[in-house]
Amino acid sequence: MKVLITGGAGYIGAITARTLKDQGYEVLVYDHFASHTPAKLGDISYVKGGILDARTLGQTLSSFHPDVVMHFAAYIQMGESVVNPRKYYDNNFIGTLSLVESMIKAGCHKLVFASTAGVYGNPVQVPIPEDHKKEPENPYGETKLSAERMLKWYDKAYGFKSISIRFFNAAGATDSLGEDHHDESHIIPNIISAQLAGKEFTLFGNDYPTPDGTCVRDYIHVLDLAEAFRLSAEKLMTPEAVTTAYNAGTGHGYSNLEIIKMVESISGKPVSVKFETRRPGDANELVADSSRLQSELSWSPTHSDLESIIKSAYNWHSKK
Ligand SMILES: NC(=O)c1ccc[n+]([C@@H]2O[C@H](COP(=O)([O-])OP(=O)(O)OC[C@H]3O[C@@H](n4cnc5c(N)ncnc54)[C@H](O)[C@@H]3O)[C@@H](O)[C@H]2O)c1
Repeated sequence: MKVLITGGAGYIGAITARTLKDQGYEVLVYDHFASHTPAKLGDISYVKGGILDARTLGQTLSSFHPDVVMHFAAYIQMGESVVNPRKYYDNNFIGTLSLVESMIKAGCHKLVFASTAGVYGNPVQVPIPEDHKKEPENPYGETKLSAERMLKWYDKAYGFKSISIRFFNAAGATDSLGEDHHDESHIIPNIISAQLAGKEFTLFGNDYPTPDGTCVRDYIHVLDLAEAFRLSAEKLMTPEAVTTAYNAGTGHGYSNLEIIKMVESISGKPVSVKFETRRPGDANELVADSSRLQSELSWSPTHSDLESIIKSAYNWHSKK
């Protein structure tokens, strides 16, 4: 199978590209390389281009002619999206629209889309099923939800088939690839980096209505996400494929303090923590009900126990 991976130079895209390539898929990465260099891709082919650059995208799609596109390219900072919504509507919504239009022109009608738990907002039911009400708390979640909805209408109009995977908290690393966001906002890399640099880690909010007062999240290893993408792509190649969305998480939540304790236990060193007041928009508890992904695509997370996630991340950050 030929797979084009947008955002394939990023954290999740690059690990997915490597996993697929190692399993014998023909992979082409498409990324504007704004914050990563192609060196991390090793022997994986790539094209430097933006998803809003219809010309380069169109040429790439027509010459590679993928069976399936996996779409990871996006901006991902929720806080930034609140103060600069235009940037997120342009890249995450219009960018997805531009990609889908270019795919249809090139005769490719199958897409796996990197969506987010952020489409739900503050949940009223946990674990969260896919049919939970959707009220995003920021433009980042809103643009992902708008893209999902657009994909549904493109199926009705053009028979364009897509599977959206709503990731909960992607985490973990492989030996050679890990989480390396510019301006990191995710808790595991931030705790590890602070500890390795001998700095304080700032924890926002310890007065949430959770067992220890800190936010609870569902952490899913990036290799398990890559497998969800692979299974979705395989499903899209079958005649019974339908446009749908799945949650991807473990169904088990960990508090921020539990994450800190696990980093301390793996490293054998204390983490120095400074408590700050809550950040706006952080939900109390986000835990996935992923039973549909498990039953319909036979997906099961095999790398996502908390110890394996943090061990892999710690190893990668220590070697960086
Ligand atoms: N990391 C998480 O916990 C998480 C959770 C939920 C959803 N997601 C989604 O997963 C996807 C990947 O996340 P990530 O953590 O790997 O992010 P990342 O920032 O590491 O990777 C995104 C990649 O997309 C590329 N990109 C961005 N805009 C582009 C454009 N206009 N044209 C071409 N390339 C562009 C960037 O250069 C980068 O390489 C995103 O769509 C994100 O919304 C991530």
